[in-house]
Amino acid sequence: MSLIEDIKNNAKTSQHTIVLPEGEAERSLKAADIIIEESLSKLILIGDKKTIEENAIKWNLKNISKAEIYDPITDSRREELINLLMEIRKSKGLTREQAEELCNQPLYLGPLLIKAGYADGEVSGAEHPTGDVLRPAFQIVKTAPNSSVVSGAFIMILKDKTYGEDGILVFADCAVNPNPDAKQLAEIAVASAQTARNIAKINPKVAMLSFSTMGSGAHEDVDKVVEATRLAKEMAPNELIDGEMQADAAIVAAIGSSKAPNSKIAGQANVLVFPTLDAGNIAYKLVQRLAGADAVGPVLQGMAAPINDLSRGCSVDDIVNLVAITANQVTI
Ligand code: ACO
Repeated sequence: MSLIEDIKNNAKTSQHTIVLPEGEAERSLKAADIIIEESLSKLILIGDKKTIEENAIKWNLKNISKAEIYDPITDSRREELINLLMEIRKSKGLTREQAEELCNQPLYLGPLLIKAGYADGEVSGAEHPTGDVLRPAFQIVKTAPNSSVVSGAFIMILKDKTYGEDGILVFADCAVNPNPDAKQLAEIAVASAQTARNIAKINPKVAMLSFSTMGSGAHEDVDKVVEATRLAKEMAPNELIDGEMQADAAIVAAIGSSKAPNSKIAGQANVLVFPTLDAGNIAYKLVQRLAGADAVGPVLQGMAAPINDLSRGCSVDDIVNLVAITANQVTI
């Protein structure tokens, strides 16, 4: 069974409720129709009820009537969500007028429906840039208890099965933190190991990437990765984490054993932690395009409830798959 089929089967058995804030949009609605058809999760679609119903008829979608609709203007829970938002953001000086305005915005309503207990997770971003999806999620759902930083991992499924674990690797952070400090990088490494185990279903071997392998280069950027490696090992002594190392030393056995002979993971790493967002984002897109890999994600890690952000270039199938992944994250 493929990884995605496995993830979809888990989603079917758990039947969590996932909210789609872009509920009127064509790709979201078409994905919703498939999600309901395949019983992957329960759904809340945010949007104008009449528009959603008209769009479902226009695109010949038979299952949309089985989704719950949250209409920002008419829903009976509006007052409850305004009060909840004011409570969460009172220390930031949010006024009632501002809360009322934010409660017209689907990207605020999604996290609020999770916080209020009506939904378990959210998938959004087909029509909005990453920052617009993440900001309300950070402000309302916030980070998980043992986490101070949210990051974004991609599960890379390569055609060449000699790399990673049978061609599967996890890359992070590819989506959120432009320049993580050593402690944040260490947290990203530990969270990525958990994503590898829980979502990609592989035994994590984590490489902390750099342009230097085990002291071959000297620079403050190398020092950051060395310190992050030390902290990550301290935070998760049972995980296999090592660095700093170059990408070839991490994934090619012969190079790993020559450049880092004492490392337990060099040459066989399946989780690659990049020193900056530039490196991680560029790397995943190059591997996706040049090696024809499937890039599943970004899977957001470290949030108190699963909220995942789509690329604006996503397909209907990408939305379906990310909803299944999000449902899997609920139970972790
Ligand atoms: N983890 C947890 N919380 C965070 C994080 C984080 N990484 N970053 C910000 N926050 C919190 C802050 O603490 C703050 O909370 P508060 O208001 O309760 O105090 C809130 O989020 C807003 O913080 P700001 O610093 O004001 O947020 P900012 O506007 O700077 O943006 C954002 C945060 C949107 C995530 C920013 O870091 C960003 O734009 N990152 C890059 C996203 C991106 O463009 N990715 C590449 C494309 S994605 C792709 O290709 C798949």
